[in-house]
Amino acid sequence: MNLLIIDNEKSQRDSLAGFLKKRGHALATVSAGEAGIAYVEKHQVDVVLTDFRMPDKSGMEVLEAIKALNPVVDVVLITAYGTIETAVEAMKKGAFDYLTKPIDLDELELLLAKIENHRNLVSENERLREQLAERYQLHNLIFQSREMAKVASTVARIAPTRTTVLISGESGTGKEVLAKAIHFASPRKDRSMVTVNCAALSDTLLESELFGHEKGSFTGADRQRIGRFEQAHNSTLFLDEVGDIPPATQVKLLRVLQERTIERVGSNQPLEVDVRVIAATHRSLDQMMKEGTFREDLYFRLNVVAIDIPPLSGRRDDIPLLMDRFLIRFGEENARGNMQFSKEAFDLLMKYDYPGNIRELENIVEQAVVLARGNVVTSAELPSTVRQLPLENKPVFSSLSGSFAEQVAAFEQGLIRQALAGTKGVQRRAADVLGMTERHLRYKLQKYGMKD
Ligand SMILES: Nc1ncnc2c1ncn2[C@@H]1O[C@H](COP(=O)(O)OP(=O)(O)OP(=O)(O)O)[C@@H](O)[C@H]1O
Ligand SMILES: [Mg+2]
Repeated sequence: MNLLIIDNEKSQRDSLAGFLKKRGHALATVSAGEAGIAYVEKHQVDVVLTDFRMPDKSGMEVLEAIKALNPVVDVVLITAYGTIETAVEAMKKGAFDYLTKPIDLDELELLLAKIENHRNLVSENERLREQLAERYQLHNLIFQSREMAKVASTVARIAPTRTTVLISGESGTGKEVLAKAIHFASPRKDRSMVTVNCAALSDTLLESELFGHEKGSFTGADRQRIGRFEQAHNSTLFLDEVGDIPPATQVKLLRVLQERTIERVGSNQPLEVDVRVIAATHRSLDQMMKEGTFREDLYFRLNVVAIDIPPLSGRRDDIPLLMDRFLIRFGEENARGNMQFSKEAFDLLMKYDYPGNIRELENIVEQAVVLARGNVVTSAELPSTVRQLPLENKPVFSSLSGSFAEQVAAFEQGLIRQALAGTKGVQRRAADVLGMTERHLRYKLQKYGMKD
């Protein structure tokens, strides 16, 4: 466990640190509340021991700030005068425990053992929760793949915190859906999430959109305007296409994220804001940093928790469920009642690659439902990109001459020839491809006088 001691009194700090170091604990010390909070923000800390009375912040304030930053940190308050009231208040605010001065070192050692034990249990629970994540219902987020279950479990873990999240993923993979899922799983859910599409606005407009402006601060600013950051106070701000923010605005955004205060354009009055930022991009910020078009310091501020949504072709298990849900939804929206896919349409959709990801699947199903006659979506209603796929599997017969039996025989021979070509003549594998036994395949080869 990594410990942090926050105490303004040097002698107290040193004696505690000395004892704990001797016992083999990894630890850091700081001499003020604010410094302690900053330390927790930047480092991996498991347990904080904080003094109750410090000149800059009370232990209670430190406790609250740390819990808001990272609820997983266990905080122990240390005070000279223990009263029931403060103890109760501390526990209510999420302190793990409470020690009175002078500190009984054996008691401290016991307490740390207890915390360690507790933390092991919690991480065990987390693992269980991860397994359950498949069944975890996240606002509007449809999935059943293992890849997305992992994403959902990250969401479940970080939603209660104020941690900044950076979502990356190809276009149409559901970055906005995920941002909403995080917001709705967070304590901020009762206020609306505020969204800014950073790609849609010019440099100056984006700045006043984000931070607001005072009347007369630039030509055309004929009224005061409240920015999105201010609007998102106590809520979530979703910065979509964050990779498109021009450099000048990147600097300003960085400052806001660091200081948690904003200044309206044309004002130098700082306003404190409590905003949870979720950013998304389909660009590679890594690449942009290398090219010098995205600031490294801003990247690290945004990338506290990174969630990468895999393309749909990388989580094919989600396809049937999404197909089904979209079919139901568009069936209802178009008053078509109980819709179904024909077997062929189903197979084609299951095989397709979806370069446009979920958005493309959604559009294909919507269009097919609208075009379908009756309650069955057939392959005829699917776009040619989807239908073209199996052409290469089709045996060639140019004309419809010959009896039914002859046609079927020709069809079978074509299939077998193609399967053998695809497996370089290995019959066992060709039989696998065709979904028949090897014996059956040999029988057919003989029957058709094909080379055995
Ligand atoms: N897991 C999901 N479950 C249900 N619908 C989804 C899911 N993911 C995405 N969608 C749907 O797919 C479409 C695209 O989603 P979204 O707008 O969130 O993608 P995006 O990654 O932000 O795309 P872009 O980069 O183009 O902005 C939306 O209509 C959304 O409703
Ligand atoms: Mg989007």
